[in-house]
Amino acid sequence: MWRYPKVLAHRGGGTLAPENTMAGLLRGMRAGFRAIEYDVMLARDGVPVVMHDPFLGRTVPGSGHVVDYDALELAGMDAGGWFGREYEGEGVPLFVEFAQFCKAHGVWMNIELKPAPGHEIETGGAVARIAAAMFADELEDRSTPGRLERAPLLSSFSMDALLAAHEVAPQLPRAFLMSELPPDWERRAREVDAVAIHVNHRHLTPQQAREVKAAGFGLFCYTVNEAARAAELLGWGVDAFCTDRIDLIGPDFITQVK
Ligand code: G3P
Ligand code: MG
Repeated sequence: MWRYPKVLAHRGGGTLAPENTMAGLLRGMRAGFRAIEYDVMLARDGVPVVMHDPFLGRTVPGSGHVVDYDALELAGMDAGGWFGREYEGEGVPLFVEFAQFCKAHGVWMNIELKPAPGHEIETGGAVARIAAAMFADELEDRSTPGRLERAPLLSSFSMDALLAAHEVAPQLPRAFLMSELPPDWERRAREVDAVAIHVNHRHLTPQQAREVKAAGFGLFCYTVNEAARAAELLGWGVDAFCTDRIDLIGPDFITQVK
C-alpha cells in the first residue's frame, strides 16, 4: 500500500534546474511539487550531502571522489554552473539543511541512499539516524491521521545500506530500489522490511506490477517523462512515480488522468 504523494520531482527539480540543489528544489516547488526524490551520500567526514555521482566532474567541477572531501568543502563547490550561468555558485547541499527545508515547507521526501562504493553500511546508518531524529514526533504519532506519512521514505539500490538503515531506525519506512525486478525480489524486499518496490519503469511488465501489488507492496517507478507512459503505468496499478519533466507532468497529474 502506498500512503505517499503520487508524483515526485526527480532530484528536486527534474531536468529544469541543476539536480540535487536548493535551486532544483525551489524550481520543483515553483512547479507546484510538494514531493521530491533526491540522492544522499557521505562526505569524507561522514556528513551526508545531497549528490548523485560518487565522483566530481559532471555536476561539480574538479576531480576525485566525494569521499575525498569534507562536507563543508563540497558545500563551497559549484553544483549549478554546469547547468547554466544563472546557477553558478549553487553549493552541494548538506543533507540536514536540505531535509529541514523540505520538512519546514511541507515537501515530502523520498531520500535515496546513494552510498559511495564501500560506504554502504555507514551511509544507510547515518542518514537513517538523522532522518529518524528529524521526524521522531511524526514517526511516534500513530493516532493523528496522516502524520506518520509525513516522514520520509528511504530507498536504495544497496541492500547493505537498507539493512543498516533498518538496524538504526526500523520505524523509518524503506523501499527496495531496483533497475529490474530479480526473480527473488520479494525475498529481498522482505529482508529489509520494505514497504515499497521502486523500479525502472522501462523494465516493468504488467504481470510484475500485479505481483508486487498482490504481495502488498507499494509500487513506484522511476523516471517517467512522458504523460502517456505515466498514464499507462498507473493503469497497471503503479502507485507513484518520479519525473524529470516537471513541466509536462505536474503534481496533479493523477487527478487529471482519472
Ligand atoms: O530513486 C529513483 C532514481 O533516482 C534512481 O536512479 O540514478 O536517478 O538516482 P538515479
Ligand atoms: Mg535517485
